[in-house]
Amino acid sequence: MSGVAPLDLAPVVRNFLDLSDAGADALAAIQNDAVTRKAARRDASGAWPKGRPDADAPLAGHVLAMIFEKNSTRTRVSFDIGMRQLGGSALILDSSSSQLGRGETIADTARVLSRMVDAIMIRTDDHAKAEELAHYAHVPVINGLTDRSHPCQIVADIQTILECGKPLPGLELAWFGDGNNVLHSLIEAAGLFRFNVRVATPPGYEPDPGFVAQARERGAEITLTHDATAAAAGADVLVTDTWVSMGQEHAHNKLAAMQPYRVDAALMAQAKQDAIFLHCLPAHVGDEVSAEVFESAQSKVFDEAENRIHAQKSILLWCLGKL
Ligand code: CP
Ligand code: NVA
Repeated sequence: MSGVAPLDLAPVVRNFLDLSDAGADALAAIQNDAVTRKAARRDASGAWPKGRPDADAPLAGHVLAMIFEKNSTRTRVSFDIGMRQLGGSALILDSSSSQLGRGETIADTARVLSRMVDAIMIRTDDHAKAEELAHYAHVPVINGLTDRSHPCQIVADIQTILECGKPLPGLELAWFGDGNNVLHSLIEAAGLFRFNVRVATPPGYEPDPGFVAQARERGAEITLTHDATAAAAGADVLVTDTWVSMGQEHAHNKLAAMQPYRVDAALMAQAKQDAIFLHCLPAHVGDEVSAEVFESAQSKVFDEAENRIHAQKSILLWCLGKL
């Protein structure tokens, strides 16, 4: 008998390139784990050193490689500290100092890293690069943001929404501004968790119709409008993001088109009284959000940023078969 395992017995690698890779049940398990781990770190003294491993250290001996072809603060720090809290460690390859920056292929990089680390996170421009990395890697690949999507961000956002006492069924979430990568993952989450999204963008800046169609097929109501006030009316959650994403040209006409979509006090006043404001950060206060809203009690942006760490840990655990 040959020693080669039949294909159907080959281990399944759990990539996290988009939320649908996990699906609704796994995402719910990820959410539950993130909430549990967050609480467990706090309930003893409330003052655990941020790098100290969780009591069960489930990723002891595991290493994550992070490839950054774009800047990052939250994603970089939350994956690094998250790995430490899980008992493992992380290292960074940036394009300027690794051989990727000198033209080594993604395919070769994937196969080399797979021999050295247990999982790979990539932040890059073209989503196809993350897909190619996952194709050639033998270990899980996590999308830390591409031009198409930002799934890790949305796991943290959902956690923040739930923490604010807002159940997902029937939730009315409103998005303002650019139809970008973060919005795409939010729309994908709406289909998987069955909440509704009103998207207010200027003409020409709508989200990818593929994400919209998929979420609608899954039963979410996705409303596309150019009317910010209508989108905000009665909403539970108001969300925005930078008007100019990393790698985009600073087109003057884009900034002009975005002006009516700033989340300001007048727009918040259209929403439910207990509505919350979210932003993945970094923010350009005065552009997509007014200082008044950004600094208000309704703004949960720093809880959202903190939740990146809790969400990331549970995503890693799912990818590595621990959830
Ligand atoms: N929200 C987010 O992904 O932040 P960074 O770009 O700082 O990682
Ligand atoms: N849409 C933004 C998100 C940054 C976290 C960008 O792609 O630059």
